[in-house]
Amino acid sequence: MKINIKRNPAKLSLITSMNKIFPILTFLLICIINGLMPSCTKEEATGTDKELLNLAQATTGFTWYKKSNILLAKSNASGHSEAFLKTRFNAVAAAKLDAGGKLVDGTSFPDGSLIVKELYKNESTLNRYAILYKKAGHPDADAKGWVWGYVNADGSVAAAASQKGAGCAGCHSQSGNIDYILMKKFFP
Ligand code: HEC
Repeated sequence: MKINIKRNPAKLSLITSMNKIFPILTFLLICIINGLMPSCTKEEATGTDKELLNLAQATTGFTWYKKSNILLAKSNASGHSEAFLKTRFNAVAAAKLDAGGKLVDGTSFPDGSLIVKELYKNESTLNRYAILYKKAGHPDADAKGWVWGYVNADGSVAAAASQKGAGCAGCHSQSGNIDYILMKKFFP
């Protein structure tokens, strides 16, 4: 009896195409898993971003805007995706607020001023810190001496300070800003 060792060509081409598809499927699977666990792909804060994260995570010595820590629904002009926010000023910056904890028109914040906006996804989940830190001469300071921080509460970077507020300063320079700060315009 003669054994037919000839491979079925249709079957062979199926195997070859499976061999080609398999790495693509594996790649897609890795992408999906990474998407579900974003911490795998996020960049951990280091350098200036870490410095700003540490400054923002400290909670003592701050004054809340209008002396109130209630969560505010973001304004309709907000460039920030989270629904709620509250903003605090360190002692250096708070010295420039009026008795009601509001910004004074025409104020220029002194060196060492730190303004931290806590961004909340919902009424209980802090997601991100938006930070303005005035430190003239800092390697990541912009022309006005502000260092722009955008760091997630999980320690990853949302926008690197080395970008010097490239995606932020345009909007924060709109009419009615006070040394870039927009709280008074939108929460008078
Ligand atoms: C399209 C406009 C827009 C962009 C872009 C934007 N912001 Fe804002 N930001 C606002 C508005 C409006 C407020 C006032 C509060 C609110 O409604 O969110 C604000 C508030 C803040 C505050 C609190 C102090 C203040 O100005 O009142 C900080 C800090 C801040 N933003 C940092 C950043 C950083 C860092 C970036 C870039 C990564 C950025 N912002 C990009 C509009 C913007």
